[in-house]
Amino acid sequence: MDNIILVGFMGVGKSTIGSELAKKISYKFLDSDNKIEERAGMSIPDIFRIYGEKYFRRLEFEIIKDIVNMSGIVLATGGGAVMNKQLFEMLMSKGTVIHLDASLSTLYDRLKDSNNRPMLNHSNRKKRIDELYSLRRPVYMKAHHTINTDGKKIEDIVDEIVEIIIGREEDKR
Ligand code: S3P
Repeated sequence: MDNIILVGFMGVGKSTIGSELAKKISYKFLDSDNKIEERAGMSIPDIFRIYGEKYFRRLEFEIIKDIVNMSGIVLATGGGAVMNKQLFEMLMSKGTVIHLDASLSTLYDRLKDSNNRPMLNHSNRKKRIDELYSLRRPVYMKAHHTINTDGKKIEDIVDEIVEIIIGREEDKR
């Protein structure tokens, strides 16, 4: 069973959509951020505060590497994971990578009250989102598929992903 790997910017809904998708197709759902927190025994903000981003990225790499070697899983990745080239290539070779896309205005709105995302700890949050978005979006766009999520219901996005999976299975035959 091919893995389904969700990538995309913070706040786009990877975890919510991933867990609904997994239920629908009877795959196991894993969220790399949850696994990182479990392994470190502390929250992501604490990991960043105590050990720094570099340490977080190392853990993220190790944990995702282990997860993608499983099969039949839906994985929601953290928004920065794809910025490690080696990790991105690994994701692309270990499953179908789906980019959940959203416009900047949707993201500003979704992230305006978030207080558990250390990457957004910045005096000017909108500017910070703009910077990260322009750095990251070109990488997300290299995923196997991109789905725009603006204004769509979770269930419709899940259905779109299921269609993609079915299409890919048919292409293999
Ligand atoms: C990060 C995104 C977060 C989490 C960490 C770093 C990022 O995950 O991995 O705070 O660099 O974009 P979400 O994309 O689920 O918010």
